[in-house]
Amino acid sequence: MKFFVDTAEIDAIAELNDLGIVDGVTTNPSLIMKSGRNILEVTKEICDLVDGPVSAEVVATKAEDMIAEGRKLAGIADNIAVKVPLTWDGLKACKVLSGEGQMVNVTLCFSANQALLAAKVGATFISPFIGRLDDINIDGMDLIADIRTIYDNYGFDTQILAASIRSVNHITDAARIGADVITAPPGVIRKLAEHPLTDKGLAAFMADWEKTGQDIL
Ligand code: E4P
Repeated sequence: MKFFVDTAEIDAIAELNDLGIVDGVTTNPSLIMKSGRNILEVTKEICDLVDGPVSAEVVATKAEDMIAEGRKLAGIADNIAVKVPLTWDGLKACKVLSGEGQMVNVTLCFSANQALLAAKVGATFISPFIGRLDDINIDGMDLIADIRTIYDNYGFDTQILAASIRSVNHITDAARIGADVITAPPGVIRKLAEHPLTDKGLAAFMADWEKTGQDIL
C-alpha cells in the first residue's frame, strides 16, 4: 500500500519523506490556504522534495478552464497529478488531461458510480472521501470496498486513493480492503507507530536498565 501525505506543510512532508515512507503528497485548496503559501511556489517545493505523485487541485468549475489550470499545474514538475473534482466538467477535464498523458486524481468522490465514471475517463487516481461520509453517518469504508470490487470486476487500473482519513483505524481498514493508496495528515501517519503496550514495555525496560548501572556507550 502506498502512503501519500495530505498536507502542504513542507517540514512535515520532509520529516516523513526522510523516513522513506512517503510515496506521494496530496493537497487541496483548503490545505494551500492553511499553509499560507502561494500554490505554485509551495507545490514546486513539494515536487522537488518528493519523488512520487504530488496532487495539485484546479479551482475552476468549467471543463475548459480546468484543463487550462491543469496544464499550468502540470508544468510545475513531471510528478504532478492534476486534481479535478468529480463533476461532469471535471470528468471532461480528466478525459482530456489523461489523454495527454497527464496523471489525474479525481477528487470529492462519494459513490461507486462516480468512481466507475472516473475510471472510464482514464483517471490515474480516484479519491473517495471516507471521513466526510462517516461524518454524515454513512460508512465510508463500504464505499472503498464497493469500488475495489467494481474495479477488480472489470480490470480498471485506476488506483483507489482512500482520502479524508481521520484515524489509524481508517488506514487499517483501507489496507484490509485493498485500497491502493491512502492519503492521511502527518499526525495520523505518526500515530500508526503508537501503542500503549509499547510505551509500558519500554518504561519497564528502562527502569530495569537503570538498576544495572551499565552504559552501552
Ligand atoms: C484528499 O485528497 C483530500 O485532500 C483530503 O483527504 C480531505 O480530507 P478532509 O475531509 O479531512 O478535509
